[in-house]
Amino acid sequence: MKYILLFSLLFISAFTPSLVCAHSLLPAPQRVVWKKGIFSPKNGYQITYDSQETRTNVDRAQFPLEQDNKAVNSAPGRVCFSVLPTNSCSEAYNLRITPDSLIVSANSFIGFLHAKSTLEQLEDKDGCYPCCVIEDEPAYRWRGAMLDVSRHFFPISFLKKQIDVMSSYKMNRLHLHLTDAAGWRMEIKRYPRLTSFAAWRTDSLWKTWWNDGKRHYAQEGTPGAYGGYYTQDELRGLVRYAQERGITIIPEIEMPAHSEEVLTAYPELSCTHVPYKQADFCPGSVATYDFLQNVLMEVMDVFPSQYIHVGGDEAGKASWGNCPLCKQKMKEEGIADVNGLQAHLIRHFGQFLKKHNRTLIGWDEIIDSTLEESSAVMVWRNVEAANEAIQLGHDVVLSPGAFCYLDGYQDSPDSQPEAYGGYRSLEMVYDFVPDKGIAPSDRKHILGIQGNLWTEYVPTESHAEYMLYPRLLAIAEIGWNGTAEKDFPEFRQRVL
Ligand code: ACM
Ligand code: ZN
Repeated sequence: MKYILLFSLLFISAFTPSLVCAHSLLPAPQRVVWKKGIFSPKNGYQITYDSQETRTNVDRAQFPLEQDNKAVNSAPGRVCFSVLPTNSCSEAYNLRITPDSLIVSANSFIGFLHAKSTLEQLEDKDGCYPCCVIEDEPAYRWRGAMLDVSRHFFPISFLKKQIDVMSSYKMNRLHLHLTDAAGWRMEIKRYPRLTSFAAWRTDSLWKTWWNDGKRHYAQEGTPGAYGGYYTQDELRGLVRYAQERGITIIPEIEMPAHSEEVLTAYPELSCTHVPYKQADFCPGSVATYDFLQNVLMEVMDVFPSQYIHVGGDEAGKASWGNCPLCKQKMKEEGIADVNGLQAHLIRHFGQFLKKHNRTLIGWDEIIDSTLEESSAVMVWRNVEAANEAIQLGHDVVLSPGAFCYLDGYQDSPDSQPEAYGGYRSLEMVYDFVPDKGIAPSDRKHILGIQGNLWTEYVPTESHAEYMLYPRLLAIAEIGWNGTAEKDFPEFRQRVL
């Protein structure tokens, strides 16, 4: 018995680095083989690059291994940066670590950035790396988070902090919900009232502002007014900051609904022209198309992302049936009902964005047989919507509320701050299987997945982080690794 115990202890200690590391990587790599020993960079090492292009990519990823080296030319250790031997996806990377060499391979800045994140997680307290071979690449192209900065406003410093976290877990899309009834958040030079008025409200808490029936906006600078907006310069800086960390910012400008703030600042854009009464733009009016086009021109000027999100969800359409301009538009275009008016507006902006070499994406209410063919759909309701979009030939980002809405309770409500949308524990988020219910031949249409934090009941930065983490890390894990086989206790050990 004594010998068995001794043997077990020896066995465990020989493999300790492997066991520790196996539990620490998040998201889990696609393929990893743990080996015996460690690579210690402490005594210096020689660095080699297999090409100038590799060097440029590595420099951009800002490897501490490059910067901290003691530059000992005669050192026995080697750190080699090289291209991947095979024709891999641009985000892929390999790591080969032996006691005397650390080889990092990738074909792009992003690939080296992901390798850097993995190395940061592998590094032990003495600055050493366990020997291993890792071959890694993402399961999905779009691994996103959405932050609702309208219901409560979050400063640029907070967004940068989330970008840092997302980048270290290999996420690559930050979707900003920039406009909604609760406040417009982006400077638009052509329409100053969007930020001097529609960005400010009379109550700091969304819940009291919304529920007490006295929803009012306020002029910027009014004592007690709550809100804020990002200037275009600030947003350009944020875009650059995110790019350096491998993240694309996707701006969302809501249309035709969720637009009370715009239609109070510019009531002529609604069917009735009455402020404080309308949530939907008038899709029969030329002024609406002009306004939204002008806004999108400025949005495209600030955000270089391929995809521009136009909302499209939850339009009440209540005033459209009685509006002379809407009725005339329906007659002219041969549109049968108000649903067709929404489809017409969304198709128009799909074509408009395409003409400017961009791609429209919108919530799944935009699905329609007339949807411009390159447009993509962000699914928030259920897998049927994903299949419907795919059958019409569209790509989808999956963020179904039942798994990916991070505004729900994470535990029993009596132990939690008040939350907006039901119960969504870490395990429920982790259980999401993106391609479940989608035919294998259709899976190429899945761009990826996204976790969404709506902030009606989330007024502070610390509260937002409490809602985001660790659940967003389950999204990062699924988006990168795929994780069709679920092992929640194992994941929980890595994430907590
Ligand atoms: C949504 O939750 N209305 C996209
Ligand atoms: Zn109208």
